[in-house]
Amino acid sequence: MAHKRSKFSSRFGFIAAAAGSAVGLGNIWKFPFEAGKGGGAAFLIIYLVFCFVLCYPLLITEIAIGRKSQRNPVGSFKILGHSRWTFIGFLSVLCGILILSFYNVVAGWVFGYFVEILLGNFAIGENFESFIADVSEVGGYSLLFMVVTAFIVSKGITNGIERASKILMPALVIIMLFLSIYALTLDNAIEGVKFYLIPDFSKVNIEIIYRALGQSFFSLSLGMGALITYGSYLKKNEDIITSGAIVTLSDVFIAFLAGLMIFPIVFSQGLSTDGGTGLIFVTLPGVFEGMGPVLGIIIGSLFFLLLSFAALTSTISLMELPVSYLVDQRNIKREIAVWISAAVVFLLGIPSLIGNGYSAFFTEFITYFGADKPTDFMTFMTDIALNSLLPVGGFFISIFAVYIWKRRKLFRELSYGNEKFLKSWIAKYVAFCLQYIAPVVLGITFIITVLEIFFGLHLFS
Ligand code: TRP
Repeated sequence: MAHKRSKFSSRFGFIAAAAGSAVGLGNIWKFPFEAGKGGGAAFLIIYLVFCFVLCYPLLITEIAIGRKSQRNPVGSFKILGHSRWTFIGFLSVLCGILILSFYNVVAGWVFGYFVEILLGNFAIGENFESFIADVSEVGGYSLLFMVVTAFIVSKGITNGIERASKILMPALVIIMLFLSIYALTLDNAIEGVKFYLIPDFSKVNIEIIYRALGQSFFSLSLGMGALITYGSYLKKNEDIITSGAIVTLSDVFIAFLAGLMIFPIVFSQGLSTDGGTGLIFVTLPGVFEGMGPVLGIIIGSLFFLLLSFAALTSTISLMELPVSYLVDQRNIKREIAVWISAAVVFLLGIPSLIGNGYSAFFTEFITYFGADKPTDFMTFMTDIALNSLLPVGGFFISIFAVYIWKRRKLFRELSYGNEKFLKSWIAKYVAFCLQYIAPVVLGITFIITVLEIFFGLHLFS
């Protein structure tokens, strides 16, 4: 099966695309509310430790698997000669579809906010609940989002994904820097900074730990082959070690910046840090309003527009999972594979769409054992896909890489493009992490997570 695979045209192109996949709603929408719930600084620190200590080695491993095999996650394991491990690939594709199904709904909220603020509707912040329950409006935006994603993915790697990422990522960073600085000038902002930067470890419990773990995986697009797929489009002479570090750093930097932007605002408005999924949607419009009508509309709509683009570079990478599977393994034409995937994912997203107030059944979808309140469908999906499946994917990938595929081969692949790697301390650390830290931490956390979320068994409290 010697087909020519399209390649990222430059190193910057790959980094922009991989960072584009990583940076998204996970950083700017989800990270702040998870950090808010998890006690601010304490959550931030645990998250940072996971990103650098655990996730970075896994990130470069995924990229190396992809580049070596030149395949989608399902094909990868076959090509490397371990068909029995193909299940990880299937798990990846499944997980990608599940994540994209609800991610696309939130992307619809973001795009809807862009439109509303452009029209000067700053009151949208107070009306968040009714906005997300308005299925025809949000459904329309989500559908639009899915169509745009599908269109770009159908154009293939270099033309679509790479070109879009290169322009949009830097623009987003600039506007977030501006907003963070602006946020610091608001009344009472300093309380927010304290909350975010001075840790209170008495708040740490096992829930914060596994949420920080799920968050770090989600944020880095890790644990389910998105990076195997991107790695498969990478040239042999590219330096995975350095590119991976740049991707990790930029992702972490943007999440950090998002917190620095949101918490001063939350405190200056006297709101609760425990705002849940609505946190950025409820707090930000008021700030834009405070900038005055003209500036507020410009900055506010620009922010949500760029956030839509950040989400888009992530939906693209998620969509690439089922698509590359259908193209490589099922010999379906790229254009057709894209529209099949888009249709399936959109349909699967409907329960998440209507589970925010519109349909009582999906809004109160399930009550976990021992829980006092029911959980909505979207939260249920995040508990399954993100808090459970991603770490499991990481667990299997680490075991596969060092014990099955073997460390020697992994390290040889990693050393192409970076000859110094093999002798560096990073190599020693990566080996240690994949052999011991990752399997143990991920295995144990997975068990605790499942017992705690789904069965209400609190082992440590
Ligand atoms: N990392 C993205 C974000 O933070 C979400 C994402 C894109 C993702 N592709 C992924 C998560 C693949 C897991 C796997 O918004």
